[in-house]
Amino acid sequence: MNKADFLSATLAGRRIQPMQASGSQFAPVNIALGKYWGKRNIPGNLPTNDSLSITLPNHGSTTTITASETDLVILNGKQVNPEHAFYRRLFEFLDALDGNRPRLRVETNNNIATAAGLASSASGFAALIGALNDLCQWQLTDTEWSILARIGSGSACRSIANGFVRWHRGERDNGKDSFAQPIDQPMPNLAIGLLTLTDAEKPIGSTAGMKQTLATCPLFNSWPQFANASVERIAQYIETGDLIALLNEAEHNAMTMHATMIATNPSILYWQPESVATMHKVRALRSDGLDVYLTMDAGPNVKLLFDRRQQADVLAAFPNAELILPFEHA
Ligand code: DP6
Repeated sequence: MNKADFLSATLAGRRIQPMQASGSQFAPVNIALGKYWGKRNIPGNLPTNDSLSITLPNHGSTTTITASETDLVILNGKQVNPEHAFYRRLFEFLDALDGNRPRLRVETNNNIATAAGLASSASGFAALIGALNDLCQWQLTDTEWSILARIGSGSACRSIANGFVRWHRGERDNGKDSFAQPIDQPMPNLAIGLLTLTDAEKPIGSTAGMKQTLATCPLFNSWPQFANASVERIAQYIETGDLIALLNEAEHNAMTMHATMIATNPSILYWQPESVATMHKVRALRSDGLDVYLTMDAGPNVKLLFDRRQQADVLAAFPNAELILPFEHA
């Protein structure tokens, strides 16, 4: 199956046919506490393992789509050149959705600092599907929305709800059981600190990085089993309200994912000196009794995880951290 086949299995005959002047949707960014790393199927973005994220409420992408004389992309107020990777990825996806689609103007605004290394492709693809659903009145269910977003970018399938969200890897070859669902259990004391440490270029994107990991990492064999069990433990800690156990598991999960990246040939090292210095600082604070943990994705920046009741101490140690309280939103 190619991307178009995966999409049409869920679109079930729906086409890109505008039913109103424009369609809009906001979708939030999510940070994985149990990571997605590895695809069992590349065009369908079918993962080797379950993953589980926390949504950053009100932080993400708003996309508006209108029928237009020519294809056009506006990103954060600026027209994007058709040669640009963002433009190409977007229209390749729209062409796979509907080979006879009308010309479209796609405007996306991200209210997140892209330098913070937050995956705007996740909120972007979730917002894109939502905007098409609005424009064409597709009446997608949340499951269909999650599946279509997943085919754009895997982690986008989790950008469909606030709070904790779990992506079930699924078993089926057509991907119809691989989608995310919110976990209806808040943890009001969970706090996140976003640290923008450096704007150093990433050595390799997630898609290529996963491919290289599967092809060359001798440790990867043990990753899916660990990752599934780890997500299961995180889900248990959410249920029992054990915040510190959850944060500890999230850090272990992230470090294990990075171990698989580092053990590829050639090695993928997303960490910069500032990342490593932050890791040491977090450990030193922990040995002084502060319950602060960290997670990292396919980039050099660090996301701190802690109990909001220790917020003053964490922010004193990291004055540049942007504080997010995921369960406090309008
Ligand atoms: C490290 O969803 O960006 O952030 O499916 O190839 O688009 P594609 O990859 P992407 O990968 C995200 C990887 C990660 C971990 C995670 O968010 O679970």
